[in-house]
Amino acid sequence: MLTNRPRGVNDLLPGDVERWQFIERTARDVCRRFNVAEIRTPIFEHTELFKRGVGETTDIVEKEMYTFQDRGERSLTLRPEGTASVVRAFVENKLYAQPQPTKMYYIGPMFRYERPQAGRYRQFHQFGVEVLGVNDPSVDAEVIALAMTFFTELGLKDITLEINSVGSPASREAYRHVLREHLAPVKDTLCKDCQSRFDRNPMRILDCKVDRDNEIVANSPYMLDYLTDEDKTHFEQVKSYLDSFGIRYVVNPRMVRGLDYYTQTAFEFMESGSTLSGGGRYNGMVEQLGGPDQPGIGFAVGIERALIALQNQDVQLPIEKGVDVFLVALGEEASKRTVTLLQELRTAGLVADKDYLGKSMKAQMKAADRLNAKQVVILGDDELAQGVANIKDMESGEQVSVPLSELVQKVQQKL
Ligand code: HAM
Repeated sequence: MLTNRPRGVNDLLPGDVERWQFIERTARDVCRRFNVAEIRTPIFEHTELFKRGVGETTDIVEKEMYTFQDRGERSLTLRPEGTASVVRAFVENKLYAQPQPTKMYYIGPMFRYERPQAGRYRQFHQFGVEVLGVNDPSVDAEVIALAMTFFTELGLKDITLEINSVGSPASREAYRHVLREHLAPVKDTLCKDCQSRFDRNPMRILDCKVDRDNEIVANSPYMLDYLTDEDKTHFEQVKSYLDSFGIRYVVNPRMVRGLDYYTQTAFEFMESGSTLSGGGRYNGMVEQLGGPDQPGIGFAVGIERALIALQNQDVQLPIEKGVDVFLVALGEEASKRTVTLLQELRTAGLVADKDYLGKSMKAQMKAADRLNAKQVVILGDDELAQGVANIKDMESGEQVSVPLSELVQKVQQKL
């Protein structure tokens, strides 16, 4: 073999891909109901977009981006997430000039150079939703409800929703000060990354995989206790809307999302200790990317993680497999006739297939079984000469002879 696939990426083979299609179909159905329209943005963008949008001090920008120079010596990056691209498109296409809100969703691959392990890949896929142009707390609750509806319709149970408020820039300014004071005595014992984060973005320290178990770090004050009155009211209203929807949640004051753009509401959906989805408000991003002062909120679900959760919970997916009708031919002339017959059945809208290798009757019937065929059409040279064919119902075993001219119609009637 010339080469294998790179580390951390997957082939989606027939047999598996139907599960993906079910997830994508469910996402589209739910978005349609919430009146959220699809957006498709490029797989790569100018590197600058993610540096500015996602934040220079995030792990994504510092360590995980697939960045390359193209032949025109521009620095481009395979998108590590969808929000920055959607906001860029919102600004560049002046979608903000239309009546707001702008509600959009996307489904597609994202790329992060992370250490691959179960549920963590270098090319992974997200279903994401972004709602721009409205700041009302009911929209925060609506976006969370959309995600919850999606999980419920997939058939998942026991999904935990954790929420927090990471505050507006005004709240965070006050909190950063308090946090630096709290962490100052242990600053020199923190990992190298955190020592640099201390000045640049101390909230990142709370999320550090190395230092978050440090007792002083773990006992840091909560952002929630330093919210401005406006931020507090917003958070209270989001919770009260969630209550009115009957959506259960846990307030996790320790939640720090791994991206820098969040303001106020932040949330995560968990299943068996793994994060299925994360999201929140990002009210400064549109302006930061050169647009007007417009708010935004959204989330993204990892599709691979959703599939793992479905497997953990043993959810049987409604996946259509097999064929409506399989053609079995005996003899050279009959075999030729099945080529056109197959085309006629398919044109009539049936899922149809046949044997291509000139196998024995027994082997052809086995193939029909393997494909879960509901009907089998058996055509021998003798039948062909008489202008008839046999239809066998695979469930009842019943077999009837019908004129070839009526075959398509008869098969259709029997389904
Ligand atoms: P995120 O938390 O970085 O947020 O990613 C969202 C979800 O993508 C995660 O909860 C996880 O299920 C999945 N995910 C992330 N990295 C990987 C990986 N390496 N392998 C497999 N799955 C992964 C965002 O990306 C934000 N853009 C979400 C958002 C939208 N916030 C506001 N709007």
